[in-house]
Amino acid sequence: MPYSNEFGDYYYSKSDGRLECDHVFINGNDLKSRFSGAKCFVIGELGFGTGLNFLETLRQFKQYANNNAKLDFHSFEINPLSADTIQKALSIWPQLTDELSQFLAVLPNQFENSHILQIDENVTLHLHIGDVNATLPEQNFLADAWYLDGFAPARNESMWSMDLMIEIAKHTKEGGTFSSYTAAGWVRRNLMDAGFKVQKTKGFAGKRDMICGKKS
Ligand SMILES: C[S@@+](CC[C@H](N)C(=O)[O-])C[C@H]1O[C@@H](n2cnc3c(N)ncnc32)[C@H](O)[C@@H]1O
Repeated sequence: MPYSNEFGDYYYSKSDGRLECDHVFINGNDLKSRFSGAKCFVIGELGFGTGLNFLETLRQFKQYANNNAKLDFHSFEINPLSADTIQKALSIWPQLTDELSQFLAVLPNQFENSHILQIDENVTLHLHIGDVNATLPEQNFLADAWYLDGFAPARNESMWSMDLMIEIAKHTKEGGTFSSYTAAGWVRRNLMDAGFKVQKTKGFAGKRDMICGKKS
């Protein structure tokens, strides 16, 4: 189980991170049906971490999207993990074996400010390295869906601030969505003030609530 000493938190649910991704991020953004109708789909993610969310999304995109549909996945990460750490963490999921190999084949040994990794002819991973508060304002993509996956808000307030939620809204298409495993009141208020309609839904495993919503 990858754990950050710096932030005092786990990277994903101790119960099953892959199923958590399915519940919170894939279903929280209604991606199975949205993938099936999309020609080109853009996802933004706060916190690339081990890449588990990306690889599970890649697996489901291959399953639900049409053959020629494109996926652009933009993920923001301040402290990229090594290939060894990622491989060790994610190899417990046999469902992701193919996707993990595809990803490791293009992952650089050393990180620069940003990387555009061509996973296959349809899927592009844009890795933005650095503090997202500095790197997101420099980007000009508009996402169909956002995964808000910083560490717990109480442990990493800068990933959930009002200013950052405004940037998220600026980088979201009209009608675009977000989801997150946290339902902390101040995070919900920041998202609402930034221009999202926010809804509480059932959380994953032992968690009572999570949130999802739409730019209105
Ligand atoms: C909960 S983990 C993300 C888990 C990840 N989505 C996965 O699939 O493994 C949170 C991530 O946010 C990153 N992070 C924390 N603060 C950040 C910041 N200010 N800017 C960019 N990334 C940050 C951490 O290094 C960590 O990798």
